[in-house]
Amino acid sequence: MDELPVAPLEVLRERRSAKWRTFPPDVLPLPVAEHDFPLAEPIAEALHAAVGRSDTGYAMAAPVLGQAVAGFAGRRWGWEIEPARVAAVGDVGVGVVELLRVLAGPGRTVVFSPPVYSPFFNWVPEAGATTVEVPLRRTDDGWRLDLPALERAFADRPAAYVLCSPHNPVGRVHAAEELGALVELARRYGVTVVADEIHAPLVLPGATFTPILTLPGAADVAVSLVSASKAWNLAGLKCAAVVAGSARTAELLGRLPADLRWRVGHFGVLASIAAFTDGEPWLDRLLLTLDRRRSQLAGLLAARLPEVRWHPPEATYLAWLDCRRFGEGDGPRDAVLERARIALEPGPRYGAPGSGHVRLNFGTSAEVVDTAVAGMARALRSGR
Ligand SMILES: Cc1ncc(COP(=O)(O)O)c(C=O)c1O
Repeated sequence: MDELPVAPLEVLRERRSAKWRTFPPDVLPLPVAEHDFPLAEPIAEALHAAVGRSDTGYAMAAPVLGQAVAGFAGRRWGWEIEPARVAAVGDVGVGVVELLRVLAGPGRTVVFSPPVYSPFFNWVPEAGATTVEVPLRRTDDGWRLDLPALERAFADRPAAYVLCSPHNPVGRVHAAEELGALVELARRYGVTVVADEIHAPLVLPGATFTPILTLPGAADVAVSLVSASKAWNLAGLKCAAVVAGSARTAELLGRLPADLRWRVGHFGVLASIAAFTDGEPWLDRLLLTLDRRRSQLAGLLAARLPEVRWHPPEATYLAWLDCRRFGEGDGPRDAVLERARIALEPGPRYGAPGSGHVRLNFGTSAEVVDTAVAGMARALRSGR
């Protein structure tokens, strides 16, 4: 199996998406989670065919999207999904917010664990609920769910816990035992787990993903959100899926606004079906490529920036780099942007534990990863 190619920078810069249009053209953009690999062929074919048919109307996701998600989840993780218990939503953010509106709302609290994907901080208030933060625990082996702290928070009877699994930005693939303990707590205290599993197809060699709904007792207390948008880079097409595993949580899906189905992208549905049905050979090449980039990054950091501490991610193409030796807050991100013209995500955006950290997107070519670390080393060193 070969690595996936990446087009030269001048070709990538022709893209019109947020990653390529947020910064001036002299900045190398490595923040937002879009990757630089070419579209998987089955997806490109499905989209070209739709354009050829002038097939640009409203989406009709059921039942095919559910069948495609179920097929992929079964083959990949042995997770049995009932296609009728899959609902299409415009994206994972829409799905989480609408679920929280049903579950929580004014006067209720919702728990999540920073450092975490920054929109979590917006989604809870958007649903009218109040945020309770239970940070991950920093250990010598990386970041972990803080189960005793979660138990204390759950004892106050929050409406929901929003789980990030695998966990962006720290790259942790939560172990089955940790997730099992979380499910037990959720059952004991009557807390619904809304599991954002968008990065699941991106679990890298060496780690094993456990879908929360495969754990004993989880189906009654958890719902999952999955999407092809991160792995196959389809975020702009607007399609994700909410998956229920029991009659109780399927009832929750039934309480989502009926009009959500009209807010799903038709191209997103077509592309997601192609990804989940025929996109695995491409996905396997992607994972091989990302595994190599991860090793490359490890080598470069050890050689050129040994002061930066990190735990190579077990999933995703995002590296969470502890640059506190070079400054707190947004300091390291600002230094790299100003002095090396490289844009990274500032750690504090993911919550207070992110002070002095940056998130680097290595879903790109070996040359770009090399340029990024060289630029970071120059910029961080010159400020000392
Ligand atoms: C954990 C996590 N959830 C959700 C999203 C966004 O997904 P969507 O565009 O489907 O809302 C991202 C994007 O990077 C993410 O990392």
